[in-house]
Amino acid sequence: MKILVTGGAGFIGTNFVYHMTEKGHDVTVLDKLTYAGGKDNLEPLGDKVRLIIADICDREAVKKAVIGQDWVVHFAAESHVTRSETDPELFYRVNVEGTKIMIEESLAAKVQKFLHISTDEVYGSKESGLFKEEDKLPGDGQASSPYAKSKAQADDLAQEFAKTGAPILITRTTNNFGPWQFPEKALPRWITNLLLGEKIPVWGEGKQVRDWLYAPENAKAIEFVLEKGKLGEVYNVAANNKPEIENRRAAEILCAGLDLDPKKWIEFVPDPRPQHDFRYAIDTTKLESLGWKPERKPEKQFKETILWYKEHENWWKKRKEEAEKIYKK
Ligand SMILES: NC(=O)c1ccc[n+]([C@@H]2O[C@H](COP(=O)([O-])OP(=O)(O)OC[C@H]3O[C@@H](n4cnc5c(N)ncnc54)[C@H](O)[C@@H]3O)[C@@H](O)[C@H]2O)c1
Repeated sequence: MKILVTGGAGFIGTNFVYHMTEKGHDVTVLDKLTYAGGKDNLEPLGDKVRLIIADICDREAVKKAVIGQDWVVHFAAESHVTRSETDPELFYRVNVEGTKIMIEESLAAKVQKFLHISTDEVYGSKESGLFKEEDKLPGDGQASSPYAKSKAQADDLAQEFAKTGAPILITRTTNNFGPWQFPEKALPRWITNLLLGEKIPVWGEGKQVRDWLYAPENAKAIEFVLEKGKLGEVYNVAANNKPEIENRRAAEILCAGLDLDPKKWIEFVPDPRPQHDFRYAIDTTKLESLGWKPERKPEKQFKETILWYKEHENWWKKRKEEAEKIYKK
């Protein structure tokens, strides 16, 4: 298949591009290369992938990029919750207006499938139980941060187009971790801190729950949805880790992976966002009933991630300063 991957130089996009080029697909990446996108991520793939450096809000560039593509997989977004608190307009422009342009131009070019990457954050927090696909209400009322609100609006937009019969698929995914993640996000921030001999700052008591999904498993899930998903449908994608992994437990697993004593290396700091969503948890029965089954081995996958960061010091060291800036404000 000829596949256009927006945001393919970012974290999950890169994992997806590696997976799909390995499967022999003809992949083109459309990416603005913001601070979160890395040309160097794709360099090892050589001419297996083409890179178009452009903004998804640039309609003319998008119009050209979608010509002749079979599938479009739309990852490109501003993705960091903390950054969204200081620049919500940017998040609205890229995540909502950019998505609209991507969908309109992809449909005009008659692509066979358009897969929009959404997030479990559109449902908001859930004290117990799991959100099903139909539990997202129209609008952004369930979402809490400007990031989540922009993604909720983009999700609605994609659903509106799907209702008109457009060949759209949506995946709502839980927190990912793995290779190529910019070290501003919790897990790579903690790993790189430990590798630098610094402590892990865990917010509050570290009891927040995120359903950590290994990005290479998410890449396979997206491929699965493209091949087996029913057009017009939304699919939750999650690891469904059992037992659930609280943030403090995730920090402990990382310390153990580096043979460090968690008591010495974890530092509990005041939560800068005490009202923020406490627990994300979604039901994956719909996708699993089609035959999808992820590898559910978080401890092994955490270790693989640590190993990746150990082996890619040059990659993350040049990103660490930018990653920390936002926390120093
Ligand atoms: N990371 C997660 O845990 C997670 C969980 C659920 C859903 N998602 C969604 O998955 C997608 C990818 O997330 P990620 O963590 O890989 O993000 P990321 O921040 O690592 O990468 C985003 C990519 O989009 C590109 N980009 C940003 N603005 C652009 C623009 N205007 N035009 C073109 N390219 C632009 C960046 O250069 C970067 O390469 C996002 O849509 C995000 O909302 C992420």
